Amino acid sequence: MKTTAVSRLEAAPWVKDAWEQTVKKVLRTSARIGAEFPHASQGGTYVLEAPHWWTAGFWPGLLWLLHEGQGDANLPFREIAEECELKLDEVLDGYDRLDHDIGFMWILTSVMNYKLNGGEESRRRALKAANYLMGRFNLKGNFIRAWNPWSEGEDNSGWAIIDCAMNVPLLQWATRETGDPRYSHVAEAHIGTVLKHFVRTDGSVRHIVRFDSQSGEVAEFIGGQGYGPESAWSRGTAWAVYGLTLAAKHTGRKDLLDAAKQVSHFFLSQLPEDSVPAWDFRAPEETKRLRDSSAGACAACGLLLLAELVPPAEASGYRSAGERILKSLYENYGSFGEEEEGLILHGTSHYPERKNMDVPLIYGDYFFVEGLARLRGGVTIPWE
Ligand code: GLY
Repeated sequence: MKTTAVSRLEAAPWVKDAWEQTVKKVLRTSARIGAEFPHASQGGTYVLEAPHWWTAGFWPGLLWLLHEGQGDANLPFREIAEECELKLDEVLDGYDRLDHDIGFMWILTSVMNYKLNGGEESRRRALKAANYLMGRFNLKGNFIRAWNPWSEGEDNSGWAIIDCAMNVPLLQWATRETGDPRYSHVAEAHIGTVLKHFVRTDGSVRHIVRFDSQSGEVAEFIGGQGYGPESAWSRGTAWAVYGLTLAAKHTGRKDLLDAAKQVSHFFLSQLPEDSVPAWDFRAPEETKRLRDSSAGACAACGLLLLAELVPPAEASGYRSAGERILKSLYENYGSFGEEEEGLILHGTSHYPERKNMDVPLIYGDYFFVEGLARLRGGVTIPWE
């Protein structure tokens, strides 16, 4: 449980401005959305999803960051975040809709609530979720299984995805909380597989690796939400930037820190002039006008954390890269003067299925707010 008072850094004027505008805008939006689960904004309004959808943690997570950052008990943010957490019980207890994304969902709700307020119910929920996530581990292939069959007879029991690098911090938290090392053993084994089979020698990253779920041998690389098996999906790269950096922090392992740097260098080398990535770094040029602002926001948070883990001589490069991305998101992609519920425009959720392209996405908004909170300092970060 967090007991110390937060201390803020003297933030740059643009950060102060962005934070104030964000608080105002989210206050307005929260009156409509309340304790629901937004995903992508269409025509200016967030479309709400069922609580089992993988993005269900991001809205309450964003509200917790604003709650702590503002320190104003009169704002409704805490109450709404707690109501969202309660609504997720139906998913946790219902079991059938759970998959690897349980980390995204309960790190941003129950773990965060527990870190800030120390409630026993929140702790129990997060530990239940961690036990479930650990149960998805494939011992032969050393990976946490992604998804469940979507249709009768479908076998995706050997699929592992890069996104899961952001789910394993739930396991590291569970070990810190209980003293039981089994959770972190599984987290490290999965991240070891990320190093071995997902990160390419040039620092780019695969989305899906299919293993033979019986033997654990690699069977195939799949493009997934990227352009193809050999492309470089930018949000997948961002999941790796941040996930590997968190893994380096949680374990103190140099090989993970080196991998986090390698993927970060690849990510940064691919950015266009305004520092916000195309949806896939290796997509055909004509589709690259489609950006993914959510990938930029997520990677920026990873870069700001990476700056804290490296020697001082290296830190300023990562910190200024993270800040540069966030500033561009605010100045060039921010929707603050508009009739639009999303905070940052031009996210791409799933290009291969042509779903939610060029729209605000709740995880883009969440990581934008986390980035601002990091730049202001003195903040509780759920994944850490
Ligand atoms: N599958 C999670 C994502 O869209 O990044």
